[in-house]
Amino acid sequence: MSTQIILPRIMQVGENASQSIPDVLASLGCKRPLIITDAMMVKLGYVDRLQNTLADHKFAADVFAETLPEPTVGSIQAGVDKARHGDYDSIIALGGGSPIDSAKAIAILARHGGEIRDYKFPRQVNESGLPIIAVPTTAGTGSEVTRFTIITDETTDEKMLCAGIGFMPVAALIDYCLTLSLPPRTTADTGIDALTHAIEAYVSKKGNPYSDSQALSAIRLIGPNLRRAYHHGEDKLARESMMLGSTLAGVAFSNASVALVHGMSRPIGAHFHVPHGLSNAMLLPSVTAFSMPAAPERYADCARAIGVADEQDSVDVANRKFLDELEALNDELQVPTPEQFGIERQRFFELMPNMAEQALASGSPGNNPRVPDADEIIAIYRQLW
Ligand SMILES: [Fe+2]
Repeated sequence: MSTQIILPRIMQVGENASQSIPDVLASLGCKRPLIITDAMMVKLGYVDRLQNTLADHKFAADVFAETLPEPTVGSIQAGVDKARHGDYDSIIALGGGSPIDSAKAIAILARHGGEIRDYKFPRQVNESGLPIIAVPTTAGTGSEVTRFTIITDETTDEKMLCAGIGFMPVAALIDYCLTLSLPPRTTADTGIDALTHAIEAYVSKKGNPYSDSQALSAIRLIGPNLRRAYHHGEDKLARESMMLGSTLAGVAFSNASVALVHGMSRPIGAHFHVPHGLSNAMLLPSVTAFSMPAAPERYADCARAIGVADEQDSVDVANRKFLDELEALNDELQVPTPEQFGIERQRFFELMPNMAEQALASGSPGNNPRVPDADEIIAIYRQLW
């Protein structure tokens, strides 16, 4: 049996990788990029710097900076109009997961029309949109190397998963220097998202030898460095490891899948506007405890990779240590409970059956080593309280 692996054509990785953007554009034959980003990137001066670098190399770039966190059908529309009516031959997606996910949807809609709903899973989007050069500024989503985007339909609060080669950036510039000034909360939330990608790819039923090797490497990089990056944002070695770990975790899940944590996390995000990494973090210990009996060796490998167990530990001991570590990580990174986040208990409990249905419909729980039914998903949601 063989597995198809899909990756960007160019990855530029390491210190100041983002400064190679003129070379990367030139090697792709692109001359007229549209920068898609958000207001924070403008405020921090990243967009000015990028435009100056491009101008120095005779590239004229326009900017669409109105992308929003957790992008919606409405929030990307102005970007689609701009990309469709301009003479752009490429898109530079600069920012965290949300600008990159927005850019992926805009790139397809600008060239092929329709609504993003037309492109949602299970359709495989193999059309090519405007080529995307992704420049992530967080170490988390891995969107720079995945064939997925997620856009929320704000009329139904549905997080629509869209998948296919069409959403894979042609280039990814993976520059940890862009993460040095990230605040601790964002560092933690995005870092746990990356860790979740790696764990879920490794235990996924769609895992394969290629994704396994990327996933374990990602866990090894993230394990010792997430706390360091959270407490000491200026620690370059920690930031570099987190950035590479996040990208490898993205490669792993894009070529395997995510699983139950992500399946249950998206409805929490959609209904209660919890940042993606944070809702993953809330779920990760409980979902891991639920899933572990179905893949104990796999989770023992995760425990060894994250650095809390060694080869001498039995599978049982390694599993217990892994669960303890996930709890300890949430404590240290000050992950709130749903209640502490401000979610109203009664509304959460009322929505649980609906959220369970949405989780199952996303398909992600079906990739979990232990596949839950709706009642088991509701029981896990209830455990968060
Ligand atoms: Fe994620």
